[in-house]
Amino acid sequence: MSKKRVLSGIQPTGKLHLGNLIGAIENWVELQGEYDCYFFIADLHALTSNYDDPKNLAADIRQATIDLVSAGLDPRKCVIFKQSDLSQHCELDVLFSMITPLSWLSRVPTYKSKIEELKAKDLSTYGFLGYPVLQAADILIYKADFVPVGRDQLPHIELTREIARRFNYFYGDLFPIPQDLLTQFPTLPGTDGRKMSKSYNNTIALSDSPEMVRKKVSAMITDPARIKKDDKGHPEVCSVFEFYKVFAKDGADAVAGECKKAERGCVACKKEMGDILVKYLEPINKRRTELLKHPDRIDKLLKDGAGKAAKVAKKTLAQAKKKMGLL
Ligand code: TRP
Ligand code: SF4
Repeated sequence: MSKKRVLSGIQPTGKLHLGNLIGAIENWVELQGEYDCYFFIADLHALTSNYDDPKNLAADIRQATIDLVSAGLDPRKCVIFKQSDLSQHCELDVLFSMITPLSWLSRVPTYKSKIEELKAKDLSTYGFLGYPVLQAADILIYKADFVPVGRDQLPHIELTREIARRFNYFYGDLFPIPQDLLTQFPTLPGTDGRKMSKSYNNTIALSDSPEMVRKKVSAMITDPARIKKDDKGHPEVCSVFEFYKVFAKDGADAVAGECKKAERGCVACKKEMGDILVKYLEPINKRRTELLKHPDRIDKLLKDGAGKAAKVAKKTLAQAKKKMGLL
């Protein structure tokens, strides 16, 4: 039996960070051995909210590609490409736009919440409203069986299913109904205790130098009740402890015990975590250094990926056009 197909995308929003690694990319790296995987840089989606300031976009796309490959995505094991290289995504998006009721789009929960979150931007655009339709095209053009995503993306996957069903109902079966593969991982806190996110400026980037990683960890906020070293700690409210649970699972219980009994000071605890992270990022750093020695490989990799993706995308687009009477 042929392998099931997995597809996912990530917006190029600058340097990828530990939250992206734990929340998505490590999962992708695991899937690439088992499934027929397509992973892409969602540059058009980045434009839906950043259309007024694209000056860094080209550099960000490159950075995201370097980060993904350094983190372990292997172009020999999966197809890696950039969304805007595949015009078929846009064409299918237009076809889907014909059958997508406006009411479906305005009730997607991320629509209102994102507008609220990015108040300073004018997101009353056609492109932003259509964000999930383009995402449905991304997924369905490869007839993906599974879409690994975080919880925040579930409404988009649900809408994708609704568009697939509606298309199949109007024009006859073409699209399989994709399933989400929910990343089980809890969100990683950033250096300030809020969710790690580029927009909060609290990230530890995969490409941060070891010195930078150590410095950021040493500045992290810990249990606010621990003012003196012999104050008993509460690891459950400490972001550094969250890092232990992720990056030093086996040692986490012991750390919690020592913290609660005030047998471990925060300065030493953070220093140890700095070392753990530096070690964790070492293989990623190594691959990055190697990749950066051959910058032309990055363009080639995306071009090759686009070539492979196009084979599938062209076929599906032709089928959809035929069903809709265009061919
Ligand atoms: N919307 C996704 C995010 O912000 C990115 C994305 C675009 C995506 N197209 C996709 C994810 C298709 C999965 C499948 O994280
Ligand atoms: Fe957090 Fe470690 Fe300090 Fe405990 S000892 S509060 S786990 S940094």
